[in-house]
Amino acid sequence: MSRDWVNLGVNYHPTPWRFQAVWEDGAWSEGELVAEATITLSEGSTAIHYGQQCFEGLKAHAGPDGEAYLFRPEQNAARMARTAERLLIPPPPTELFLRGVEATVAANPEALPPHGCGAALYLRPLLIGVGDNLGLRPAPRFIFRVFCSPVGPYFKAGLKPIRLAVSPFDRVAARGTGSFKAGGNYAGGLYASRQAKQLGCDEALYLDPDTRTFLDEAGSANVFGILPGSDGAPDRLVTPASASILPSITMDALCTLAKEELGLSVERRPLPLSELAQLRELACAGTAAVVTPVSAVRLEDGTEIALPQPVGETTQRLHEVLTAVQTGLMEDRWSWRHLVAAAPASAD
Ligand code: PLP
Ligand code: COI
Repeated sequence: MSRDWVNLGVNYHPTPWRFQAVWEDGAWSEGELVAEATITLSEGSTAIHYGQQCFEGLKAHAGPDGEAYLFRPEQNAARMARTAERLLIPPPPTELFLRGVEATVAANPEALPPHGCGAALYLRPLLIGVGDNLGLRPAPRFIFRVFCSPVGPYFKAGLKPIRLAVSPFDRVAARGTGSFKAGGNYAGGLYASRQAKQLGCDEALYLDPDTRTFLDEAGSANVFGILPGSDGAPDRLVTPASASILPSITMDALCTLAKEELGLSVERRPLPLSELAQLRELACAGTAAVVTPVSAVRLEDGTEIALPQPVGETTQRLHEVLTAVQTGLMEDRWSWRHLVAAAPASAD
């Protein structure tokens, strides 16, 4: 299959195979690869009434010899299990989750973008409450499905900075589901993202819902800033600690890389909005976003803070080392790369 790997965007490009397991009568089925891209649901399904569903997102990258590497899939398995518990969904065991994502990658070899083209194979694990129901109660049946889609590089021509607009809306409630990957969190954010775009920005930047004085995160990614170190001290990477943001697996890796590869000091702490003006660089971090520099932040009163380095040196360096680890170009001292065994010849 020949594709225009550079112009894929982050879009749904169906591939031949997906993995599906079902929970019923207290147990998960073994799961299997299926060809059908649509799912038939009872109209009583809790996923479509009450949002009893959650999802994950992770990528597989081709290494230099064409092998497929997942990036930290165990972390996605753990986060999905944690979200599932919060939503009264039976968590898929780690073994099932990993087998599902690996089988999906292995069964769709032609969808894996070639090494070095900047694109990756995006995996979307889904967990949905299905079956006949009406009252507000957990579903009698759940589907765990993993499908994949090749996604283009976020940056077609180098690192293109984006603009964020501080949202007048809260992404989630103060003691709500913000730290979980529940679909409902994103439904509420669609309006805020559209508003940010109408204001000439690319994405919404949310404040903490409790006090609205600290930075939380962007619509689909965590944020981090770079502060210059004083008196010869190393530069500092600062990223918000907040109970209402999604704990990003990418951000976690970047904190380690910043410390161990770039020699920065790392601060995970509440980040006051008032400190924005002191940042030298600001960027978004996430599976889809990878590392996206931010050139300016529009405040609610319409004024703007322009970052002194719209495409910061440290941001670029972090992007470089992260993608080098993900694509097998750099030694993986942290055991983040997860090699996917090729599918046996008889798989299809
Ligand atoms: N925050 C939100 C709201 C997200 O949707 C994502 C994407 O998954 C992230 C942060 C980044 O998380 P990760 O790096 O685990 O993809
Ligand atoms: C991801 O980065 O994997 C996400 O889930 C963000 C999504 C809104 C595209």
